[in-house]
Amino acid sequence: MLAYLDHHATTPCDERVLAAMAPWWHQLFANPASRLYRPALEAAAAVEIARGQVADALGMPAGAVIFCSGATEANNLALKGVAEAALERGERRRGLITVATEHRAVLDPLAWLHRHGLPLTVLPVQSDGLLDLQRLADAIGPDTLLVSVMAANNEIGVLQDLAAIGQLCRRHGVLFHCDGAQAVGHIPLAMADLNIDLLSLSGHKLYGPKGCGALLRREGVALAPQQHGGSQEGGLRAGTLAVPLLVGLGAAVELALADQGERSARLTTLRDRLWDGLQRLGGIQLNGHPSQRLGHNLNVSVDGVDGARLHRLLRSELAVSSGSACSQGSPSQVLAALGRSRQQAAASIRFGLGRDSSGADIDRALAAVAAAVAELRHPA
Ligand SMILES: Cc1ncc(COP(=O)(O)O)c(C=O)c1O
Repeated sequence: MLAYLDHHATTPCDERVLAAMAPWWHQLFANPASRLYRPALEAAAAVEIARGQVADALGMPAGAVIFCSGATEANNLALKGVAEAALERGERRRGLITVATEHRAVLDPLAWLHRHGLPLTVLPVQSDGLLDLQRLADAIGPDTLLVSVMAANNEIGVLQDLAAIGQLCRRHGVLFHCDGAQAVGHIPLAMADLNIDLLSLSGHKLYGPKGCGALLRREGVALAPQQHGGSQEGGLRAGTLAVPLLVGLGAAVELALADQGERSARLTTLRDRLWDGLQRLGGIQLNGHPSQRLGHNLNVSVDGVDGARLHRLLRSELAVSSGSACSQGSPSQVLAALGRSRQQAAASIRFGLGRDSSGADIDRALAAVAAAVAELRHPA
């Protein structure tokens, strides 16, 4: 069995979530939109319970939740939906601002909008992965429509200063979208306190099922639907609701919030032990801010070794990543944005600890990296 330390790519679906989902596949299979008979009304009620669970987690009313297939779709709906709604009402503000270390599920829809004529600014980050707030303040102008900054980075775990970004956006009358895929269920996030107007989340990043997620929207934020063909989700996201997945998402969010504090403290201790052990090998660079990061994340570059060979040696022992699972093979744009060379980025290891991670996993990771580094640095 591999030691699975890739919880930023995905998390296992919690068994309690599986149990909550079970009846909704077969026994209670009715379509929640078929409102004329009891089983359908029960399915609709189950979806509304899940909606409440997701909304509560972010301190929002249930009406803020738009269910969809995951954070990629939520980001597309937020970014393209805001832009289209603004264009439709002849809004003067059209400018979009984001950060170089965002996930492609934000960068690509923004690049698409840019190709269709909307001005786009992609801000650099500092060498620790944090956004320079003065740069953001300077970039915001009278034409700025929206700023999109993620809560927690999927590669380096860096936590941006959402409160300061939200305040800045509010002061300038600019919408603030936040990709919370790696943060919801892992750190406390109160949307209203942080002045976040739109927030994306994903089920499979918080011990829920794959294929579900949500966009949360502050009341009054104009959004044009990006998927047409039905009146579900207030006409903002057409398509039959995936009742079992949404029941699972609600349960997963509730469970994640229940052990969030304890889990984060425990995983931070394990992560720090991993970092201490790795540093003893020498020639290991930390990627990202040392403390303003997720407690279950560690990202390092190993000096003087070939990245492909390093990961070939590790893969029989460890499930870890050298970058975003979604960027498949291309060098990490996140590590490049921190100033790492291609070689350093390739020889990087992203560790993502999770609910089931143990001290034994950390020992195994340390032994595997030590053996691989010794073999590559001092071949027999
Ligand atoms: C920050 C971030 N945003 C968006 C996504 C995409 O999420 P989903 O798989 O739910 O579409 C991911 C997944 O890797 C992510 O880490």
